[in-house]
Amino acid sequence: MNVPATDASHFRRALAEHFPQSAWREAVESVPRELFLGAAIYRATEYGDRWEVIRRDEVPADEWLRLAYSDETWVTQVGGVMADDATGRTSGPPTCSSTMPGLVVRMLEAAQISGGAKVLEIGTGTGYSAALMCHRLGDGAVTSIEYDPAVAGHARTALAAGGYAPTLVVGDGLSGYEKNAEYDRLIATCSVRYIPMPWMWQVRDGGTITTPLWGWMGGTAFAHLTLDDAGYASGRFLQDRLYFMTARPHLPHPLSHAVLLRGPSRPSRIDPNLLDHETGVFVAQLAAPSAQRLGTGDETILVDVATGSQASSSKTAEGEWVVRQHGPLRLWDAVEDAIETWQQAGSPDQSAFGLRVTRDRQYVWLGDNDGPSWDLPV
Ligand SMILES: C[S@@+](CC[C@H](N)C(=O)[O-])C[C@H]1O[C@@H](n2cnc3c(N)ncnc32)[C@H](O)[C@@H]1O
Repeated sequence: MNVPATDASHFRRALAEHFPQSAWREAVESVPRELFLGAAIYRATEYGDRWEVIRRDEVPADEWLRLAYSDETWVTQVGGVMADDATGRTSGPPTCSSTMPGLVVRMLEAAQISGGAKVLEIGTGTGYSAALMCHRLGDGAVTSIEYDPAVAGHARTALAAGGYAPTLVVGDGLSGYEKNAEYDRLIATCSVRYIPMPWMWQVRDGGTITTPLWGWMGGTAFAHLTLDDAGYASGRFLQDRLYFMTARPHLPHPLSHAVLLRGPSRPSRIDPNLLDHETGVFVAQLAAPSAQRLGTGDETILVDVATGSQASSSKTAEGEWVVRQHGPLRLWDAVEDAIETWQQAGSPDQSAFGLRVTRDRQYVWLGDNDGPSWDLPV
């Protein structure tokens, strides 16, 4: 494209053309994403969790705009270090990003946000999605919460520079923000293990909660729940497979290694490779939600740190799958039962499942609300 070096509108228009039918198209065409990337971003290297920094003032202006308006996720904080502050290569897990605009738009569409809606967003991040909502709904309709003060500071600066003024809160979004309740729509751009109860109290009856779910085995589902007038919420999972980084309080304790106990084994009723399948692992996780998964394929290991329970699978010389289990939770027994239930239902994907949240229980059902169910680890 032959454009003046600093003219971002061409790039913005090109990005908006990815969403020709979307009600968010005009917002994408108007919100200057480059503001929300700040002065630097991280780019993944070939070495797993190691990142290099790209600084705005070290690349040609056109190149920076090209990056800003590509439909890609740009990581802006790794292990708590903002890209602006990084010196040299950094390693660690990403802790903030400007999620790819395509995913942000899908999230906003899935939440069925339209003019007049009052929205609570959990996970301000760079502030880009909050800016899209301010553009479409007006500043007064948008409340956004960010956990990390440094991230929130950058978002505040970028939002102000773009002329957007949502209510920006620094704190734990799992507690919501009661002062501006009730909300018509709650969206989380971070993933949760279960629905925090304050969200239920702060969304109006008939309102919705749209959030990615994620668990300690890595299984995901995309929840879109409607609140009824008894204060319960329910909904079938959406077809989209959509993941945002995990809400920080819902991360497990780091599990760098586990001492594998040996001992007697028994034949496994299921092929452990099913846990490498995206719905298979989701189902396994429903059955053993406190377990973390190490290893894949030939040796799948489940460890529940709190009770010291573990299960590990392996293949015998004859090619049979066997499993060893230790501890008070029989993790593999539970996983086998759930996988068999899922297989008997024809091994459907996550959109055959749904979630119901009541005052006492949160459970995932299969088929319909009266089908087989598993409690989330509330
Ligand atoms: C993928 S980013 C959000 C993307 C963002 N909406 C955007 O448009 O740039 C996820 C954000 O959620 C934040 N986060 C994680 N746990 C949180 C929590 N409990 N409450 C609020 N924010 C949280 C992270 O710090 C991170 O900035």
